[in-house]
Amino acid sequence: MRKTVIAGNWKMNKNLSEAAELVNGLKAELAGKTLNVGVIVCPPYVNIESVAKLAEGTEIKVGAQNMYFEESGAYTGEISADMLKSVGAEYVILGHSERRTIFGENDEVINKKMKKALEAGLKPIFCIGETLEEREGGTMKEVIAKQVKGGLSGISEQELSEIIVAYEPVWAIGTGVTASPDQAQEVHAYIRGMLKEMYSEVAADNMTIQYGGSVKPGNAKELLGMPDIDGALVGGACLKADSFAGIITAV
Ligand code: 13P
Repeated sequence: MRKTVIAGNWKMNKNLSEAAELVNGLKAELAGKTLNVGVIVCPPYVNIESVAKLAEGTEIKVGAQNMYFEESGAYTGEISADMLKSVGAEYVILGHSERRTIFGENDEVINKKMKKALEAGLKPIFCIGETLEEREGGTMKEVIAKQVKGGLSGISEQELSEIIVAYEPVWAIGTGVTASPDQAQEVHAYIRGMLKEMYSEVAADNMTIQYGGSVKPGNAKELLGMPDIDGALVGGACLKADSFAGIITAV
């Protein structure tokens, strides 16, 4: 059976003391609760180590928001998979739409990062999603298919089991407009169908596919009640301990 996983993408928010406050707040919110979902927080690079230490011994796992695909060397400003592991990251978000649009990452670059992360023992949270123009223009499925095939190119079925897929419609990110449960379910089922064709029925059935885009405590339960929605990748609502905990406990 596949696992439900709620991940928080802090994006470029929280300095060192604010990061500690947020993770300590989350620990307090979740203390004593039996969780039937996985919980991941993805702070900015510079706070990964301190957040990982504060989360030690709890259910909270830590991830990064990006990494570079080379091992080491003259890549000023970049961070390697090994560095992330060495400070306590277990996951890494790859292919986020903000990386694709603001920083020009394409499927090929994302695929290289996926392979490097897997090789280093980091679990990718692999993001895909269409823009509003693509949805309205009728190319949504083509766009999703290209991103799935491009990002997973050359990745084995065994490696796939280490990956979480996150469907994040670009028009729903940070806009307050959430995809309806039916809209999200349609794409999730489409992605799972693709994985079945590319790999196997078992691999597709075991895949955790998160939804991301304006998830809040008030809409999480309905979204996660859909058969192919197995978690959430949360932006804005993960920046406060009570609202992130509200999403985790809503499911
Ligand atoms: P919001 O929850 O703020 O819409 O952000 C979603 C997101 O991009 C998570 O990666």
